[in-house]
Amino acid sequence: MAWDTYARQRPERRPVNAAGERTWFNWTQYPDHGPGAEVLGVRPGQRVLDLGCGKGGNLAHLAALGARAVGVDVSPAQLSAARERWSDAGLVLYRREALEFLTADAGADFDAVYSVFGAVWFTDPVRLLPAIRARLRPGGVLAFSQRPPVEGCYGCQASYINRSENEDPLVVRRWDYELDEWRGLLTGVGFHGVRAQVIPAPPGPRKIGTVLVRAVA
Ligand SMILES: C[S@@+](CC[C@H](N)C(=O)[O-])C[C@H]1O[C@@H](n2cnc3c(N)ncnc32)[C@H](O)[C@@H]1O
Repeated sequence: MAWDTYARQRPERRPVNAAGERTWFNWTQYPDHGPGAEVLGVRPGQRVLDLGCGKGGNLAHLAALGARAVGVDVSPAQLSAARERWSDAGLVLYRREALEFLTADAGADFDAVYSVFGAVWFTDPVRLLPAIRARLRPGGVLAFSQRPPVEGCYGCQASYINRSENEDPLVVRRWDYELDEWRGLLTGVGFHGVRAQVIPAPPGPRKIGTVLVRAVA
């Protein structure tokens, strides 16, 4: 219910980006900003999984590059928007909770797993990271992005999804950590080559950057 509410509040992705492209990959909360799909290094024919794919814009870009694109999301509203917008993109979409999908479906493994402000942010990493590691092929890449933590507020946090003025907000849990903590969590479950950074916000009034973490299985 919380994520369906969120889905209804979020605008559709633009038809084209500033470069005139119909599909693109965006790791940050700002349009036309930051690195793109090259972070994942996915080649045509490889299998890639988006945890918390939302309306599917990033996944559609990977499919356009030739990847076999699988998306998982708990929200029917998000998935129905993804199916409508990207009906011809060949996406394989599941309505599932991320941890449940990773542990219950003993299907093929993935060459890359990623999450953009998605399920990796909203699931306890102590449980989720080993499950992702187990479904990545050797050399496979995990990458995820989210907002940086507020100083002093680390670990599980309450995140509010507002409704009408007559209704209390809905609450979801998210996990905020500093870069060193992410490095430790990832190496602790066997990832290597961990790169964790904060991408600065684009020039302008907004100051909050984007945490981007990449690790190799
Ligand atoms: C902030 S939205 C981001 C959506 C998308 N990645 C994007 O960049 O637009 C978070 C998404 O993660 C999904 N989500 C949150 N927790 C999840 C979980 N445990 N398993 C699967 N999906 C989840 C929500 O339904 C929502 O679509």
